[in-house]
Amino acid sequence: MAHLFNRNILLGVSGGIAAYKSAELVRALQERGAKVRVIMTHGAQEFITPLTLQALSGNPVHTELLDERAELGMGHIELARWADALLIAPATADLISRLSAGRADDLLTTVALATAAPMMLAPAMNQQMWKDQATAANINTLVERGVKIVGPEAGLQACGDIGPGRMEAPEVIADAAGGLFTSGELAGKRIVITAGPTREALDPVRYISNNSSGKMGYALAQAAVDAGAITTLVSGPVNLAAPEHTQVLNVQSAEEMLDQCLQLLPDCDIFIACAAVADYRPATVQNQKIKKGPEEVTLQMVRNPDIVATVASHEQKPYTVGFAAETNDVLAYARDKMQRKGLDMIVANDVADQSIGFNSDENAVTVLWPDGEQTIERANKTTIARQIVHLIAQHS
Ligand code: PMT
Repeated sequence: MAHLFNRNILLGVSGGIAAYKSAELVRALQERGAKVRVIMTHGAQEFITPLTLQALSGNPVHTELLDERAELGMGHIELARWADALLIAPATADLISRLSAGRADDLLTTVALATAAPMMLAPAMNQQMWKDQATAANINTLVERGVKIVGPEAGLQACGDIGPGRMEAPEVIADAAGGLFTSGELAGKRIVITAGPTREALDPVRYISNNSSGKMGYALAQAAVDAGAITTLVSGPVNLAAPEHTQVLNVQSAEEMLDQCLQLLPDCDIFIACAAVADYRPATVQNQKIKKGPEEVTLQMVRNPDIVATVASHEQKPYTVGFAAETNDVLAYARDKMQRKGLDMIVANDVADQSIGFNSDENAVTVLWPDGEQTIERANKTTIARQIVHLIAQHS
């Protein structure tokens, strides 16, 4: 059984008799650990009620493109950003045709255009419609754009025909969806990723830190595992579950993070510095809790070591990727940071926008390397991480 632990699967249901199997598919996806939200076309609602899929998925079912209430909550753009993958089952001949033409004439086709997440279709239609040249051409167009197709299977159809066109079994589709996240493009590579904040102690109970949640770094670790890498996270204190098949080494301060990273360097091909490391730490750490005293106190701070710069100048330097959290002149500062720190690639993160970056589920970044750059539009951190890892695989 494929693992879909913590994956956000957006299930699109279009109008064919196989829509009744979507109820079972919701269950099969959930059994594999996925969180499921459902979009139904108008045609789908002729075959199965939204209430059924709402009860099974535990979330409201989305049906309308122009819906004032939805736009205040989960509107089409939020759904597109929420999805780690868009799975359409059943996908009718009409829906396949509209997708291949790039139409955006209902909620499902609009979300399909608006999402950066990978897409999979489970076609279901009459066998002659499946064999028709128009359908075959539409499928080819979608496959060329990177859309994955599962099924259809052959057999007795609802209309009495026998042949290919029956939607694949829900279990088979759910397992195939697991394949959307694995690429193997970094198979066997050893990747070390720093994540989260550091805590710089003042006394036994107080520290200086920042708002990094670790979500971006942990999403990168999951994407690295999905790409086939042997992945280690060196993590500051966060409240996140370890991604599957990832070794997590917990640290507190910048100095501990540096020590841990240096120990890992002999076995590291790619190093990604996503942690928000404190640039300074208190010059002295008190053994006892500091007592309240005068109205004003002055804190003396000293510079912390720069972890990513140390790794990049090491004789065992791996391919080194940094992040740049900037509030202004983002790309210029990021490129300068890449050169000053001797990095091979840098991910520029505009943290002036508080709805992305620090402690958010979403991000939007520009990835820079010495002779190029690529912007990755706003999406959830899983989708952003997958695209960053893809660029690292291409350039490392
Ligand atoms: O954890 P989240 O809530 O998901 O938020 C993600 C994030 C915003 C923290 C992340 O996307 C991000 O931008 N991380 C880098 C934050 C940062 O400290 O940026 P910087 O521009 O100050 O540092 C530049 C680079 O040097 C970074 O790769 C950083 O890890 C590294 N650095 C900085 C200081 C230091 N002493 N040692 C370092 O290695």
